[in-house]
Amino acid sequence: MKLQILFLMMIFLGVPQMSSAAIKTEDFDSIKLYTLKNNSGMTVKITNYGAIITSIIVPDKNGKAGDIALGYNRVEDYINAVDKPYFGAIVGRYGNRIAKGQFEIDGETYSLAVNNGENHLHGGTIGFDKVVWNAEPMEGNGWQALKLTYLAKDMEEGYPGNLEVSVTYTLNNKNELKVDYLATTDKATHINLTQHTYFNLKGEGEGTILDHELMLNASKYTPTDSGAIPTGELAEVKETPFDFTKAKTIGKEIDEDHQQLIYGLGYDHNWVIDREDEEGLTLAARVHEPTTGRVMEIETTEPGIQFYCGNFLDGRLKGKSGKPYVKRGGFCLETQHYPDSPNQPNFPSTLLKPGEEYETTTVFRFSTKK
Ligand code: BGC
Repeated sequence: MKLQILFLMMIFLGVPQMSSAAIKTEDFDSIKLYTLKNNSGMTVKITNYGAIITSIIVPDKNGKAGDIALGYNRVEDYINAVDKPYFGAIVGRYGNRIAKGQFEIDGETYSLAVNNGENHLHGGTIGFDKVVWNAEPMEGNGWQALKLTYLAKDMEEGYPGNLEVSVTYTLNNKNELKVDYLATTDKATHINLTQHTYFNLKGEGEGTILDHELMLNASKYTPTDSGAIPTGELAEVKETPFDFTKAKTIGKEIDEDHQQLIYGLGYDHNWVIDREDEEGLTLAARVHEPTTGRVMEIETTEPGIQFYCGNFLDGRLKGKSGKPYVKRGGFCLETQHYPDSPNQPNFPSTLLKPGEEYETTTVFRFSTKK
């Protein structure tokens, strides 16, 4: 298998007007687009801006290829996106929310950007989704990979510790896209990395995802307050709209009169994955789209998964094929530690200390069902 890395510059016109992401010219010049391809019909494109997956092309049940990841054609659109949906990005240093943008380590209080109501979301103003990563393509027998590395400096976005991060995307011939996350720090810090692709298994821009059938291997979830911060309770999903232990369509109970659905404007919650052991890869989710027959399974070493069904998309953003991304036109399944873990002593810890290694893996497996 020949490694096909397309060093396509995404911009030709110099540095465009940039909003919050203050990228230096030399960094901007190093933004490239990389392609991983396998011999089973899959192609995945990744840019080293934000470690963003810009497209995932997979066959449907008739062998017809389609792009199932929401995104843009040009890097400027990722940089300048008004409502910052985090399409395809690696989110960090801390994915999801930290209450009031504060946590304490060893008696010291750290203050982070408050960028989501009164809380901190997705690593702050310039999180890992808005920086330029170093990229190293790799390949072996039956796989191609892209290793992305980034050094988040001590106190960058208010977090302590120089954090050396690597995220490796590997595509194999079994239509598995594996994401391996590694990190080390020189001061105790909190870390929670995730992948924020919005999927629509019918194809990006092809309407809503409400008819997709979803199974979540989770008998509990973490209910939240009105600002999406967990109350600390691990609530049973049984007999609630949050029960996806048996596959059902995403739309089936989304409009039920349930306080958590009102707070989330639909599903936007963390599920507690049912695991047999604490560490191994465990099935977290399976999604099936009946018209195309596409199936996606997610396995992870993480304890939780955020299921967010694109409640904040509203048709204003237009994607790669020019079609509007309507409300619930894509869903994210973000493997993670639970939101606000730094302030919730009963949740699995997100603390990383010097000398320790942060190591997690998530696999997205694609197939079809007639
Ligand atoms: C969050 C949503 C948020 C979305 C885009 C998801 O991870 O749970 O509340 O709107 O990311 O920022």
